[in-house]
Amino acid sequence: MKTPITVTVTGAAGQIAYSLLFRIGSGSMFGPEQPVNLRLLEIEPAMNALQGVVMELRDAAFPLINDIVATCDPAEGFKGANWCILVGSVPRKAGMERKDLLGINGKVFVGQGKAIAANAAPDVRVFVVGNPCNTNSLIAKASAAGIPENRFFAMTRLDENRAKSQLADKAGVHVTDVTNLAIWGNHSSTQYPDFTHAKINGKPVTEVITDTEWLQNDFITTVQQRGAAIIKARGASSAASAASAAVDTVRSLVTPTPEGDWYSVAVCSDGSYGIEKGLMFSFPIRTKADGSWEIVQGLNIDAFSKEKIAATEAELKEERDAVRELGIL
Ligand code: NAD
Ligand code: LMR
Repeated sequence: MKTPITVTVTGAAGQIAYSLLFRIGSGSMFGPEQPVNLRLLEIEPAMNALQGVVMELRDAAFPLINDIVATCDPAEGFKGANWCILVGSVPRKAGMERKDLLGINGKVFVGQGKAIAANAAPDVRVFVVGNPCNTNSLIAKASAAGIPENRFFAMTRLDENRAKSQLADKAGVHVTDVTNLAIWGNHSSTQYPDFTHAKINGKPVTEVITDTEWLQNDFITTVQQRGAAIIKARGASSAASAASAAVDTVRSLVTPTPEGDWYSVAVCSDGSYGIEKGLMFSFPIRTKADGSWEIVQGLNIDAFSKEKIAATEAELKEERDAVRELGIL
């Protein structure tokens, strides 16, 4: 057995965490050989509920869980963390856009960014799920003095999984037959699920699905609006699929990516594809053999895609500017 790593999950008494924590405990996220110390952070009013979650985690008797700390003190919650999975924040209700949450959730990521910088392990990686996740991650990054910008991430893998599922359904293939699906930009209704580079059984999607009208319209809007459709149907936002996408994201970040493929996660833009540096922007990403990640370079972006990517970049700039106007940063 390896030395345990420390994983902090915020919002640990919430809906997503109720799926996520048990997947971490089972080894789905860090692998079947990797023990974990769980540090569960909540706000004070949720501490009773969190105690119940801790009881259930203990009752699940996971061999990989080494230790559990439940706390509402961020300094204690992030102590020694190698991974911080920031789920804790308010979900939107029907009729809202995710960016409408910025005024409520944004400031949480200032305090947490500072607490991570002061208390986490030197190799900490910070993965934001709580919405609006790209801009919350930007706030955490700006608040966490001394932590390199390439350690911050925000989740667009749920969008990638949704897009793959839509394409597989349309083509009558299994979802695992769909590869190279990049989500560009914001986890929002401006995101661009890029069908132009995606493949089905190694062939361009556009050769397998010849209904261009569907690809350019219904496909994109279905993926962009999927979160809202789930809220409408369930009366609550996606939780189990979000937890599963969080597992997929971290697994992809710690595992070399299969040759030729990529996955989606928002990272700090280095200016690739002309995207403004510093924005937390979802790109096609690969994990290298040494465990570091890179943005896939050299993809040809056609005029249709350029327009879509520009729209989602513009929205992320607006969110960044709103952070300043709201006095969050
Ligand atoms: P939830 O309301 O069930 O749980 C959120 C939990 O966070 C609550 O228990 C709450 O007490 C806790 N919390 C609030 N502020 C906190 C703080 N400062 N520190 C620690 N904990 C805090 O919500 P949920 O369904 O689990 O969703 C959580 C977030 O994830 C929402 O913002 C939601 O919109 C977002 N989300 C993102 C994606 C994505 O793809 N990026 C997908 C689904 C949901
Ligand atoms: C999702 O995509 O399901 C989440 O971001 C929740 C939401 O508000 O849509």
